[in-house]
Amino acid sequence: MVGTVSHMATSSAVSHALRPFGTTIFSRMTELARQHGAINLGQGFPDFDGPESICVAAAEAMRAGHNQYAPMGGVPQLQEAIARDAAEGLGRTIDPAGEVTVTSGCTEAIAATMAGLLNPGDEVIAFEPFYDSYPATVAMCGATLKTVTLRPPTFAFDAARLEVAVTDRTRAVLLNTPHNPTGRVATANELEAIADVCRRHDLIAITDEVYDRLVLEGEQQHLCLAACDGMVDRTITLRSLGKTFSLTGWKIGWAIAPAHLTAAIRSAHQFLTYAVPTPLQHAAAHALSLGEPYYRTLRDEYRQRRDVLLQGLSQTPLRVFEPEGTYFVMCDHASLGHGDDLAFCRWLVETVGVAAIPPSSFYADPRSGADLVRFAFCKSLPVLEAASKRLAGLRAP
Ligand SMILES: Cc1ncc(COP(=O)(O)O)c(C=O)c1O
Repeated sequence: MVGTVSHMATSSAVSHALRPFGTTIFSRMTELARQHGAINLGQGFPDFDGPESICVAAAEAMRAGHNQYAPMGGVPQLQEAIARDAAEGLGRTIDPAGEVTVTSGCTEAIAATMAGLLNPGDEVIAFEPFYDSYPATVAMCGATLKTVTLRPPTFAFDAARLEVAVTDRTRAVLLNTPHNPTGRVATANELEAIADVCRRHDLIAITDEVYDRLVLEGEQQHLCLAACDGMVDRTITLRSLGKTFSLTGWKIGWAIAPAHLTAAIRSAHQFLTYAVPTPLQHAAAHALSLGEPYYRTLRDEYRQRRDVLLQGLSQTPLRVFEPEGTYFVMCDHASLGHGDDLAFCRWLVETVGVAAIPPSSFYADPRSGADLVRFAFCKSLPVLEAASKRLAGLRAP
């Protein structure tokens, strides 16, 4: 027994599949920001809560006795609210009981999708930079993530380069739009070209749409790959409550998919979490009933926050890539001469007092993100103004 303990203490207990991923950059930067009392524009969580009525609905659901396991697919009222909320964008009627699965955030929806669909040796293609759970969850399944790089300044989704990455092992394409961290929103032409690749190679499409309500450019809108011709039967649409309702800590997400793909997702979901907190699901149903007036205010407020940060960044030597959606701004810091993204972000926290995210861990090859830095603007206006003031001190060497 003593021998076992000392073995565990001296060598990593982490599985081979997960060892390459270490501790997520979000935890590391948040801890560094705390140590240095920096303004945290790193991890993408709002410093304000969503509408009070949603919290009241959660408390009322608890008091009303909604405290035992929810059905595995989700509380019916929430499944119905999700189906109603998504119908217009997906261009079809959604069967709440058969096509909606409520998960522990979009992160679990991603994991359940991968675990439910993939066999060892399969390949999934994602555009990079990517949300960092993608490669880890694919690796947990013994599958491989292949990447197509979105390149500055436009970060365009290039279907021709996607096609080059397809092999006879490719099972799925994973698309995130609006895109974290670039702020790009896929256009109708880009989606049609991606759909064409999926149809011709008989691929499943997985779309991560957690920022679907955060398209900030007036003339653009969020478009769904699932709504393209011939895609409904091969697309899994993943969304979440966290970003849209400023409730990231609730971890309520969902997957919308035709019955045969829902069966695959649930085959994993039932053993990952089985079900998601019941009272929060009741409150989430209320949240989704707030509808367009709430979404309009959300967008207006985020436009204001984005513009405050962009104004601050425009006073610096950083090269700014203005986002069309999400609550992130990517910049190129190379002209400041502080090394790679990790070195630059460390310097920024320690010297300027602002925390950001070094995006290299969102790339298969970290060198691809070495010149970039990501700032989050899901913060209250005074915080963004204070951060902008600090950033104004940035000087080119
Ligand atoms: C692209 C993307 N997908 C998924 C998530 C996770 O969503 P959730 O908090 O609902 O698990 C995030 C959170 O940062 C994200 O940026």
